[in-house]
Amino acid sequence: MPNHTDINARWRMGGITVPAVEDYLYSLLPPRDEVLTDIEDQAAKRDIPIVGPAVGRILYQLALMIGAKRVFELGSAIGYSTIWWARAVGEGGRVVYTDGDRKKAEEARRYFDRAGVSGRITLHTGDALEFLSEQKEEYDIIFNDVDKEDYPRVFKLALPHLRKGGLFVTDNVLWSGKVTQQDPSEASTKAILEFNRLLYSSQALFTTIFPIRDGVAVAIKS
Ligand SMILES: C[S@@+](CC[C@H](N)C(=O)[O-])C[C@H]1O[C@@H](n2cnc3c(N)ncnc32)[C@H](O)[C@@H]1O
Repeated sequence: MPNHTDINARWRMGGITVPAVEDYLYSLLPPRDEVLTDIEDQAAKRDIPIVGPAVGRILYQLALMIGAKRVFELGSAIGYSTIWWARAVGEGGRVVYTDGDRKKAEEARRYFDRAGVSGRITLHTGDALEFLSEQKEEYDIIFNDVDKEDYPRVFKLALPHLRKGGLFVTDNVLWSGKVTQQDPSEASTKAILEFNRLLYSSQALFTTIFPIRDGVAVAIKS
């Protein structure tokens, strides 16, 4: 049974599911290994936004469902979501880590070594969108978790780099519920609203938003 601190850690968002249901969902989660638990603790202590264990499991499960071997992640921070992907792609799989913050990348590298998945991860420090646009290959999964203002641009960039039947997965698409504001003033909220419209109106994608934690959009390319 997870302890009280676990299920109330700050990487939880709130505002989407009623708190009692959110507590229940988190109480069901089996404990994570030492490395993921350390990252969860660090993220909670230092207010580093990570997807957390409920969404981590979704990422892992999506990759298993389509037998993903190549994952490109935009916005990887200290490597929490990267480790879920790396474990899912297995031996011979590859995950591209990208983050603009060199210190976070160094910290992530240490976690990857400890988790025994360094061999599956390519680390890139710099602009994730620029790096994606330079890619020559197609990916099974593209995971989008960068600054929210950039989401509409990521939408346009990601599609050509995703294989048919591949998944375009995005975190924070309900943005603490701010997507329901009548006249949002924040640029981030406006960008997410535009992004969600693009996802649902695309002829090339079939999209569902899962209202878990801060909202996860899963789109399959046809
Ligand atoms: C929400 S955190 C990522 C959390 C990570 N996906 C996880 O769940 O463990 C967002 C990260 O994206 C990085 N970032 C934001 N915009 C970026 C960009 N254009 N290129 C590279 N990194 C970016 C930030 O430095 C930050 O560490």
